[in-house]
Amino acid sequence: MLRRALLTVSANPAIKNLATTAPGISALVTKFAAGETTHEAIGVTNELVSQGFLVTLDHLGEDTTDVGTAVIIRDAYVELLQRLGRAQLARHAEVSVKLSAVGQALPGDGPQIATDHARRICEVARDVGTTVTLDMEDHTTADLTLSTLAQLREDFPHTGAVLQAYLHRTEADCRDLSNAGSRVRLCKGAYNEPPSVAFQRRDEVDLSYVRCLKVLLQGEGYPMIATHDSRLISVAEALCTRYGRKPDDHEFQMLYGVRRREQRRLAEAGKQVRVYVPYGSEWYGYLVRRMAERPANLMLGIRAMLGRG
Ligand code: FDA
Repeated sequence: MLRRALLTVSANPAIKNLATTAPGISALVTKFAAGETTHEAIGVTNELVSQGFLVTLDHLGEDTTDVGTAVIIRDAYVELLQRLGRAQLARHAEVSVKLSAVGQALPGDGPQIATDHARRICEVARDVGTTVTLDMEDHTTADLTLSTLAQLREDFPHTGAVLQAYLHRTEADCRDLSNAGSRVRLCKGAYNEPPSVAFQRRDEVDLSYVRCLKVLLQGEGYPMIATHDSRLISVAEALCTRYGRKPDDHEFQMLYGVRRREQRRLAEAGKQVRVYVPYGSEWYGYLVRRMAERPANLMLGIRAMLGRG
């Protein structure tokens, strides 16, 4: 309920303006993001890799409304990938891309522009020796995103997708994407979705997550188990054993700044753990979703807006 209300209210431009200019907000942003520059993102990546983690980097931005910005974001990914290559980090760090950031929502040929931009990012990722995963946004974009994924996978077969357990369709999508070579990040889902397309209750989402996980772990692809939920992590560990999964044929994923101790515990137990590291100046939408997930984060946000952060 609170989550839904926050996601709705946050779309108001006045609230956005208030939040992004609040004096205490930058301390909260640095809890969940690596900084604003590529240099800072590479620094955080280096540190995480030296601690034994894998990384996926997200250049923050979404719902781009002009072609110029879409090009700037594409080029930021290209620069980031080239720098990961030069720093010998590409074996351990890939990138996560929101298609709406690179133009999907532009009127007219937006989907084609986004696919072309994602293709360019995939080319550079391949050249430096890493991969790309397409983030999943609200349900209205799911078909478009999966269609772009299919096109990209013809030339870049290791391009990954995100599927959201809260959507009714996702178990079927997992079946479609559980074939050899497929990389699927399974998460609960972070957007405000209606009951016509998404489970609303936490227990329904969790049960769906387990059903989807079973499909992926019994398949031939590479499942990426993206959750901080201790119960689901335990279920995933048990299912990996049941289905004979080896440490190198799946991975766990968590967000930068969230449950660091659990990230370390899994890594120390010999699991592959990838940390999702966002960076850049367009942090508003990302931060709102993190606040909506957890009342304690929302309190931090309110305190920051009141200048008591
Ligand atoms: P849940 O929200 O139930 O949290 C379980 C526990 O984890 C909480 O009790 C708390 O202890 C801790 N926790 C969770 N979130 C926290 C936070 N923000 N701050 C502090 N503690 C927190 N979504 C999407 O729609 N599209 C996408 O492409 C992605 N991509 C993505 C990548 C990766 C690597 C991850 C880990 C997540 C995503 N998500 C996403 C977000 C995802 O859908 C979901 O909103 C969050 O992961 C929170 O759900 P949990 O599974 O962690 O469970």
